[in-house]
Amino acid sequence: MSKNTIIFCYSKSGNTKSFTDQVLSKYTNVEKVDTPSNITDVSQYDFVGFSSGIYYGEQANEITQQIEKLNLTGKKCFFLWTSGSSGEKYNNCPKEIIEKKGGIYLGGQGVKAKMTFWLFRCCCCCCGGTVTEKDIENGQNFMDNIFNQ
Ligand SMILES: Cc1cc2nc3c(=O)[nH]c(=O)nc-3n(C[C@H](O)[C@H](O)[C@H](O)COP(=O)(O)O)c2cc1C
Repeated sequence: MSKNTIIFCYSKSGNTKSFTDQVLSKYTNVEKVDTPSNITDVSQYDFVGFSSGIYYGEQANEITQQIEKLNLTGKKCFFLWTSGSSGEKYNNCPKEIIEKKGGIYLGGQGVKAKMTFWLFRCCCCCCGGTVTEKDIENGQNFMDNIFNQ
């Protein structure tokens, strides 16, 4: 079951968009918005999500700027991500800024996707991966858990 949700997505080369779309395909009542966006009012939503590739160890600047524009007081927030290397360390990337904006951070879930940047491809050629059905299932289990909170 899903609840009234908006998710802001930034995907430079498409991996995160694909992951986000597949994970959320199961749910109704989820509005997906590409960033940058002009939306500043999320008062009508119960859940506010963010999804992004990981760039230099962080969520995209576009996501950070979007969060800065929002009043997240009392909103339940989550983060979906893709990266070139695996790492649960990325689960909490936007936690601090979300909490600074008043949001309740429920956690993050992500996958190691294909490397899309030549430097990372060259340096970490052994690290890239592809999104699998299991990744999507894990993402949906994560979302089920989020929507139960
Ligand atoms: C400029 C740039 C910086 C990146 N920095 C990291 C990084 O610090 N750690 C990592 O694991 N992957 C890094 N990657 C790989 C991306 O996170 C990965 O390819 C991700 O799936 C991209 O998402 P997107 O296709 O939605 O843009 C970087 C990619 C680019 C283009």
